[in-house]
Amino acid sequence: WPKDVGVLALEVYFPAQYVDQTDLEKYNNVEAGKYTVGLGQTHMGFCSVQEDINSLCLTVVQRLMERTQLPWDSVGRLEVGTETIIDKSKAVKTVLMELFQDSGNTDIEGIDTTNACYGGTASLFNAANWMESSSWDGRYAMVVCGDIAVYPNGNARPTGGAGAVAMLIGPKAPLALEQGLRGTHMENVYDFYKPNLASEYPVVDGKLSIQCYLRALDRCYTSYRQKIQNQWKQAGNDRPFTLDDLQYMIFHTPFCKMVQKSLARLMFNDFLSASRDTQSNLYKGLEAFRGLKLEDTYNNKDLDKALLKASQDTFDKKTKASLYLSTHNGNMYTSSLYGCLASLLSHHSAQELAGSRIGAFSYGSGLAASFFSFRVSQDASPGSPLDKLVSSTSDLPKRLASRKCVSPEEFTEIMNQREQFYHKVNFSPPGDTSSLFPGTCLSRSYAR
Ligand code: CAA
Repeated sequence: WPKDVGVLALEVYFPAQYVDQTDLEKYNNVEAGKYTVGLGQTHMGFCSVQEDINSLCLTVVQRLMERTQLPWDSVGRLEVGTETIIDKSKAVKTVLMELFQDSGNTDIEGIDTTNACYGGTASLFNAANWMESSSWDGRYAMVVCGDIAVYPNGNARPTGGAGAVAMLIGPKAPLALEQGLRGTHMENVYDFYKPNLASEYPVVDGKLSIQCYLRALDRCYTSYRQKIQNQWKQAGNDRPFTLDDLQYMIFHTPFCKMVQKSLARLMFNDFLSASRDTQSNLYKGLEAFRGLKLEDTYNNKDLDKALLKASQDTFDKKTKASLYLSTHNGNMYTSSLYGCLASLLSHHSAQELAGSRIGAFSYGSGLAASFFSFRVSQDASPGSPLDKLVSSTSDLPKRLASRKCVSPEEFTEIMNQREQFYHKVNFSPPGDTSSLFPGTCLSRSYAR
């Protein structure tokens, strides 16, 4: 099979306008700091009425192909992960085929995968599995994840966002998926779901969703650790796996504070599995929490506080940089984890990243979750695939800074318009398209 299958190139797209979370706190009459400190969000990107999931995905694919300069017939599989459904039958993937039309390449496997924010990861696994199977025809795969995360007026609204990520998947990748190392947890829960076909908004039980996320993280990490330890044992290395074995750690990010708590939670997992001596020597300040069971601690505020303190340095080193896009743009559902990957790359040099292991936790409500990892290639020399990949993300801060700040009043008005226009047929959204980034592809799905 081809070696080191993983991410060769990636492209991120986000909307051209955002609302400031400090302004939103005032507008919503909540205490100052609730969104900016309590949730850890500074800005929230959102789509105008001219954009939908098809336009987001069309744009990000077009830009990835322009960036890589690959011929359109070099792609043999195209997978889409999204939970932003326009059509209950026709896949977003079929809309993306429009871009391949001129090349005559119609021999492209793959369709959409949906389960809340997990669809992108399922697509990535599908693409890698294809490449490592007898079905592979030697061409690249592309994984596209994108979503419009919007909530009705209320507590959940500041945890919205929107965006898309496209990744080119191939062998000899600078970010190779580590084989045999996926810890997965799946379960039937109703923490966040979309039963209302006439609305873009989900039904969400916020507190339950947080508990489900943390439980899934515990289970996936346990299973991942077991698998990597088994691999190590076979190679004659009989030591426990801990967070120290991950140089970087990225998470699905519904809001940034959740991720800081999740990193802390991984440390708690390590603490509970460690010997008494190690617990005392390495995990200062956690002694009072010895002997607890993971499942009894989801609402333990004292533990949360102690863990956040104990893990602060680890968070700063391994995870903080990955939250840049999420802090400024919000939740992007399926593309959130891969936006974190782009942020991590944009804040480190190829030399810093070379040879490291990046842990990744993907969570989709409902629920489906996986813990897996990328191995970064050793070669960080100028012009190497790693160097090119890292350089391609360096303009992320500049691109985010070029967006337009919109008042909460205007944001609310646009949300109200989206509510009115949702699922209308034979309809073109009003207004001009000058607010879109130049080169944004428009979708014709409204007009059908
Ligand atoms: N200054 C600083 N902090 C403040 C504050 C202030 N003035 N006021 C409140 N806070 C803190 C609170 O103490 C709290 O922090 P802790 O949890 O650490 O105690 C934090 O701000 C949030 O406050 P609340 O818990 O009171 O917030 P809320 O209940 O009004 O809403 C939410 C929070 C439940 C996350 C809601 O926004 C929501 O439902 N969001 C959508 C669901 C979601 O994002 N779930 C995450 C897991 S599910 C998932 O990951 C899938 C997905 O993408 C949706």
